[in-house]
Amino acid sequence: MSISRTGCFAIVLVLLGSLPLAAASRPPAQGGGGAVASDERLATEVGLEILRQGGNAADAAVATALALVVVEPEAGNLGGGGLAVIKFGDEVTYLDFRETAPAAAHRKTYLDEAGEPVPEASLVGPLAAGVPGSPSGLFELHRRYGKLKWRVVVEPARRLAADGFAVSRRLHHGLVAKKEVLTRFSETADRWFPEGEAPAPGAMLRIPELAATLADYASEGPTAITSGDRARAIEEVSKRYGGILTADDLAAYAPVWREPVRFEAFGWQVASADLPSSGGILVGSTAAIVDRLSWRDTPRFGAQRVHLIAEAWRRAFADRFLLGDPSAAKAGADELLASSWLDQRSASVDPMKASASSSVEPWEHAVASDGVSESSDTTHLSVVDADGNLVALTTTLNGLFGCALYVPEAGFFLNNEMDDFATVPGRPNLYGLVQGEANEVAAGKRMLSSMSPTVAWREGEAVALGGRGGSRIPTATLQVLLNFWLDDDNLQAALDRPRVHHQWLPDQIFSEDDALSPETKAELEARGHEITWVGSLAQVHAVRWSAGGQVEAAVDPRGGGGASGVVRPLF
Ligand code: GLY
Repeated sequence: MSISRTGCFAIVLVLLGSLPLAAASRPPAQGGGGAVASDERLATEVGLEILRQGGNAADAAVATALALVVVEPEAGNLGGGGLAVIKFGDEVTYLDFRETAPAAAHRKTYLDEAGEPVPEASLVGPLAAGVPGSPSGLFELHRRYGKLKWRVVVEPARRLAADGFAVSRRLHHGLVAKKEVLTRFSETADRWFPEGEAPAPGAMLRIPELAATLADYASEGPTAITSGDRARAIEEVSKRYGGILTADDLAAYAPVWREPVRFEAFGWQVASADLPSSGGILVGSTAAIVDRLSWRDTPRFGAQRVHLIAEAWRRAFADRFLLGDPSAAKAGADELLASSWLDQRSASVDPMKASASSSVEPWEHAVASDGVSESSDTTHLSVVDADGNLVALTTTLNGLFGCALYVPEAGFFLNNEMDDFATVPGRPNLYGLVQGEANEVAAGKRMLSSMSPTVAWREGEAVALGGRGGSRIPTATLQVLLNFWLDDDNLQAALDRPRVHHQWLPDQIFSEDDALSPETKAELEARGHEITWVGSLAQVHAVRWSAGGQVEAAVDPRGGGGASGVVRPLF
């Protein structure tokens, strides 16, 4: 298991029915002037620097996201998309800058003449790429909420790309792990494997082509990428490898302000990502189901909590089958968070025995899934400013380095988000998720996501959080919230504690190596659950604000990355 043992003090970390293992936790970063938590130290420092310059949470979130494009190019992006949930004062909003399917995409794009999926077509190469939403999305987030000038917010990322940065271990290992697929494209091989090798950890890397893009982005806004030479270059390189993404697609893309999913849980108000993500609906429905199943009164350790939450997820993920782009979904938050439906779902849980996923509708549309692959895609950042404004922002290329095609004229990778569609309804995708017709490929549609940027608040206190890890994001987000809300964990301990996961199909509880004691595992198996061990389940980063202006930031120790920091008052 890849939980790092960094930190200064050891505490007992336990989850659900987990082992009371002694593990180490880092102390939370605490202070008074704003806080940032992201995947990379250099990006977190950029966010903190923007806060110190008087920027607000939106300024810092956008600057951090742009810094991630430079230092974490495997997930941070201008060639992908994302979602953000924002709380500024009493205003709570949701920005959808998810990719869309190119105009030429249709339900058979990824099928051969016999109707069988073409291997890798939705994963590798530009046919897998959706229309990037990040250039317009980040600009729009700043336009609506930012306080500093746009060029000030972009400048730190431009500087990192121009002056260079030390390659992280994570970037190095990601490149090495994906070398075979990345070097299928000469554009990617030339930039990322000069003389055949990935840059070593700690090597200084400059990306002048990205610096040039960011300079133009700072002066012109998104059209520096979505029109003109760069858009034409994206179309050309896409066509070269059989893609369908065009400059017209890029020019036509628009982010959308939507209402977030809103619900109340355990005394907290919560806002999370609605369609085209399933994330907020999954977090909300499973919180409501476990509440109905007396979670609060269930012993913290032992099999019962694991059983109950697995049963809640089994049902919530079955309903995910109905979700997709808001224009095509067969249900949404109104139906799936309705009290009557949640009552029905929780009443169907046997408190002692596992249900079979095949008995939980809408099973009749699905076939069995092969499993859930390990992936460390996507990147999340959480920011709070001194006024208690919060941004939870998750952004993704889908897989690490997206479709593996680097666009030299632009300085970034294109995503492979088309695999988040049900390219063949009823068959599992990269995450083993079995999805329905509502999420079928169609021109202009947004593919269903699991990203769960979330903000929760009650009198005198608020948190922003979210994570990376595909289908495991909503289950990890909920577990962190439950740890924090109900078990008196501080923010860092709530992130550190071991986790489990269930997603309806495959019909298994996925457990981090140290999440279940042998007794708990045996008890769960006796109840009919199948357990699969996995190294780690998602990575969550969070910030917290308390009345009086105290802030706190925490990053997930899984995956070896992450950096949090606070701006301390100057007195
Ligand atoms: N690409 C992962 C997600 O959006 O859920």
